[in-house]
Amino acid sequence: MQNIMLITASSPLSVGEFFYKKTQPQASDLSLILDALTQAAKLVHVDVNRAELAGILGAIGTENVQGEEQQKLDVIANNRFIEAFTKSGLIALIGSEENEGIILTGNDGAEYVVAMDPLDGSSNIDVNVSIGTIFSIYRRKTPTNQTPTLSDLLQAGTEQVAGGYVLYGTSTLLVLTTGEGVQAFTYDLKADEFLLSNPLIQTKAEGKIFSCNEGSYHDFEEGVKNYLNHCKTQQFKGRYIGSLVADFHRNLLKGGIFLYPATPKSPQGKLRLLYECNPLAFIAEQAGGLATDGKNRILDIQPIALHQRTPYYIGSPNMVRNVMDLLQSK
Ligand code: AHG
Repeated sequence: MQNIMLITASSPLSVGEFFYKKTQPQASDLSLILDALTQAAKLVHVDVNRAELAGILGAIGTENVQGEEQQKLDVIANNRFIEAFTKSGLIALIGSEENEGIILTGNDGAEYVVAMDPLDGSSNIDVNVSIGTIFSIYRRKTPTNQTPTLSDLLQAGTEQVAGGYVLYGTSTLLVLTTGEGVQAFTYDLKADEFLLSNPLIQTKAEGKIFSCNEGSYHDFEEGVKNYLNHCKTQQFKGRYIGSLVADFHRNLLKGGIFLYPATPKSPQGKLRLLYECNPLAFIAEQAGGLATDGKNRILDIQPIALHQRTPYYIGSPNMVRNVMDLLQSK
């Protein structure tokens, strides 16, 4: 009979504990903001898991500013995060995919602002496929004795204080960066906490997965078509869920590239710079990857509108460089 070895490990840190231990000046504020974020994420976890039983699947009958049909869970998640950030007292202003304009929380003296997609991939809600919340936290630019404005959110991605996502998948996971590597925290139902499960995520320089909606292949420019053909010649795996967070997360861990190019119908692509592309670009770079619009580094783009879109190529650095080379060799 084999000997059974008992392994005792010290208990993993929660998100708040992990960041409170950091030495940067904003560490305590940041840990409280992340605490608010995880409180909302826990509620959304329950909503997502009980959605069918609770009768909250399906569309609500309204459209968001993008002209997309809002799902009941989009609206519920949006309210959960807005309420949590507002109650924290530390967030002055929120920009959300679900709201046309900025949301003033009333915390005028607060120093931070948030951009978020409260429930990304919502077309997958009804079919029990992974969805996510994506967020960026910035330090505001306007003085704290003034009412915050949209300009506080229109900052380049390089200015993010923290960025990340919650993935409601086979487990619920928070993946986060504050500019010192990428950490993952898994929601432990027993402890009712997000506990550190991966202290340093790093991506592969070269991957073998490509993720793209090839239904639009004929609308892509030549460089994108050439890159997709190259992926097939190399017999890379094609994997596409249609939830950005889930597609990105798989490629981050396994090595791969996600592409959402421009098309004549959507000359700026589909994905939104502030609350989809920038947070994931911050994570990608901190994990050793790259994110571009085909020419420019995503994090360097100066936003001019809350719901601005951009073409998007993100993932393993050699793959992103390869597609950029093909896009530029006309
Ligand atoms: P939505 O939240 O409306 O479902 O949009 C999801 C986003 C993103 O998560 C995903 O990568 C992309 O849209 C999928 O778009 P296509 O359906 O055009 O492939």
